[in-house]
Amino acid sequence: MTDPVRYERDGGIAVVTIENGPVNALSQAVRAGLDAAFERFAADDAARIAVIVGAGRLFIGGADISEFGTPPAAPLLPDVVGRIEASEKPVVAAIHGAALGGGLEVALGAHYRLALDGAQLGLPEVKLGIIPGAGGTQRAPRLIGLKAALAMIPAGGTVTAGAALEMRLVDRVAAGEDARAAGIAYARELLEQGAPARPVGALPRPVADAAALDEARARLARKARGEVAPLAAVDAIEAATRLDLAEGLAEERRIFRDLMETPQRAGLVHAFFIERKVAKLPEIDGIAPRGLDAIGVVGGGLMGAGIATAALLRGLPVTLVERDAAAAEKAAGTIAGNLDAAVKRGKLDQPRRDAILAEKLTVATGYEALSRADLIIEAVFEDMEVKKQVFAALDRVARPGAILATNTSYLDIDAIAASVSRPSDVIGLHFFSPAHVMKLLEVVVADKTAPEVTATAFALARRLGKIAVRAGVCDGFIGNRILSHCRAAADRMVLQGASPFQVDQAMRDFGFAMGPYAVVDLAGLDIGFLTRQRKARDRDPRDVVPTWADALYHMGRLGQKTGRGYYIYEAGSRVGRPDPGVEELIAKARAEAGVSPRDFTDEEIRRRYMAALVNEAARVIEEGIAQRPLDIDVTLLHGYGFPRWRGGPMKWADMTGLGSVLADVRRCAAEDDYFWRPAPLLERLVAENRNFDSLNAG
Ligand code: 3HC
Ligand code: NAI
Repeated sequence: MTDPVRYERDGGIAVVTIENGPVNALSQAVRAGLDAAFERFAADDAARIAVIVGAGRLFIGGADISEFGTPPAAPLLPDVVGRIEASEKPVVAAIHGAALGGGLEVALGAHYRLALDGAQLGLPEVKLGIIPGAGGTQRAPRLIGLKAALAMIPAGGTVTAGAALEMRLVDRVAAGEDARAAGIAYARELLEQGAPARPVGALPRPVADAAALDEARARLARKARGEVAPLAAVDAIEAATRLDLAEGLAEERRIFRDLMETPQRAGLVHAFFIERKVAKLPEIDGIAPRGLDAIGVVGGGLMGAGIATAALLRGLPVTLVERDAAAAEKAAGTIAGNLDAAVKRGKLDQPRRDAILAEKLTVATGYEALSRADLIIEAVFEDMEVKKQVFAALDRVARPGAILATNTSYLDIDAIAASVSRPSDVIGLHFFSPAHVMKLLEVVVADKTAPEVTATAFALARRLGKIAVRAGVCDGFIGNRILSHCRAAADRMVLQGASPFQVDQAMRDFGFAMGPYAVVDLAGLDIGFLTRQRKARDRDPRDVVPTWADALYHMGRLGQKTGRGYYIYEAGSRVGRPDPGVEELIAKARAEAGVSPRDFTDEEIRRRYMAALVNEAARVIEEGIAQRPLDIDVTLLHGYGFPRWRGGPMKWADMTGLGSVLADVRRCAAEDDYFWRPAPLLERLVAENRNFDSLNAG
């Protein structure tokens, strides 16, 4: 292996270059190389100043995350940073692209920092369940002050070069692309000025501010509910206000090491890697996607308008077809509203919003308008006959090679594909609501879908800034299928005596963004009712039908959109309070079913809910609907509010122990062996003493 750190001299300037693609992560070899380079710099009498630069597209992306969980190998990063900072001759960090985590900590060890325009700087460690471990929590507050450090480190956010200059995180911002040249020019100036070594660690401690610390803790308890690292980051920053550098660094290291051992760190690191692995599929490896220059959308309701917005926000021209002029106008209005909201959130500026609407969006009422689209996404009513009519029309007008996609939630995409003359061009693109906000895209590959169509769907997801997961065809694909099974488990508990509000609270305490019944209110009780109607024919007598939910539907209590569902929503509020009337409806349902209610503990609710989830997920994998457990983890993390710090349900199951999850399934099966049939895959993994992660390899 070539040396990942190079030491060269340009006159009196030593240039230390880190080259460890793709992100110059600070692996053991890089740490050793940096250490050696600064030892050499100290001894190199001809060198009067050093510049640290990163080769490739960024400065340094941080510690090497793949080393986490293994015993740390010397030299440790804090020591390397300490050596840089202790240099008697000045050191400059020249940052381009990004300086993240340990990368920014190396820069903080330097005495002068320059960033190229467009660079991002930050300490994102909390997003991996840890805190900066090489001085970030001690040096950054000394440089930028307590309040700025509290805003930046516990949230794990990044700042641009310009903002970094304003907060004095860097000393200079330079234009251009060449960090090495900019760094050398800056070093020359410093030499001319006779600038000394100027260690950040020698700056005075940041001033203690109890109110600011309290405010940060209160904010994080709300915003980072359940997460340990953000609050630990506040503790470490607080330490900087009362300890000298050496003691502060030791305290930081202690917290860092403790966090390294937590399941949250394991969960978050798992999430980081699977998000990158999810798009790596053998079936599209090396397959070139088709061109994507113009998008068509059919149906401009909630989803169609959202999908159109998502494409427009990423610069793709969209033609949207609705049933009639009034519906088309309404759809255009919804899209304009979505863009206005993006302007308000600062995601878009007004002139760009106006230009998008004027130049990139066409609404029409005839399918001919779609004749030039490269990819057409259908988002009309969830009705097979309507979908088939739309696809027949698309088959007539779409150009050869155009991709015909459906946003159906549950319908059989093989059947839709079979209804057209070009089934290999048909695919499912299951967006989540609101489609221009939610990150997840289930790419549903039908029997006859051509690999390049799948590859194009993944390319579209990248273009839209979404995370695509490959799913197979079945009722509900990956996410909705698992969700409906979980909801069935919850309905069983409710029928037996749990209240839906207790179920919601228990699952929120587990870490879900919302409980299952609050989600029903958000999606609308009509959706569940119509799904039950659709499935009524296939229903088994042992299935539990939530008759109370049907009653709510008939009373017009459809959830948030009518101000009342399981919860009551005061005008404009998206947070409801429990509706006691619902308990009465449930009591009636229990009486009708001859059930005498019993109490559930929150723990029992959580175990049953998660056992149902994992059991169904195991079936989804075994049937090939999801190819790997990681596909389920990514789906639940990005589409269903599963707590990221648990890594996903399959990671949770692995960490809990599959034997224990299977034991829960079997215990439940003792009272109901229809719903709680153990998934054969789960049984097999337990028998073979393996975990789900063993199926993620390759
Ligand atoms: N360690 C190991 N591998 C890393 C890595 C890291 N810090 N950062 C990225 N990678 C890998 C990715 O897994 C991916 O591998 P693959 O090609 O095999 O899938 C490859 O590098 C490219 O990464 P991305 O696809 O994410 O590339 P992007 O260009 O989209 O993004 C990035 C680059 C912004 C640097 C992004 O990768 C990122 O955010 N990385 C993590 C940054 C981070 O969290 N750093 C802090 C680490 S913890 C730390 O420093 C502790 C210290 O305080 C002691
Ligand atoms: P919606 O009822 O809000 O919108 C449907 C739109 O399609 C209406 O505006 C209607 O005028 C239009 N339409 C109907 N027939 C048409 C035709 N022949 N030609 C052109 N336009 C036609 O429904 P929504 O919620 O947007 O759902 C659309 C699809 O997306 C459904 O298949 C649904 O299952 C799916 N979906 C819905 C999600 C949700 O959260 N609502 C999430 C993911 C998928």
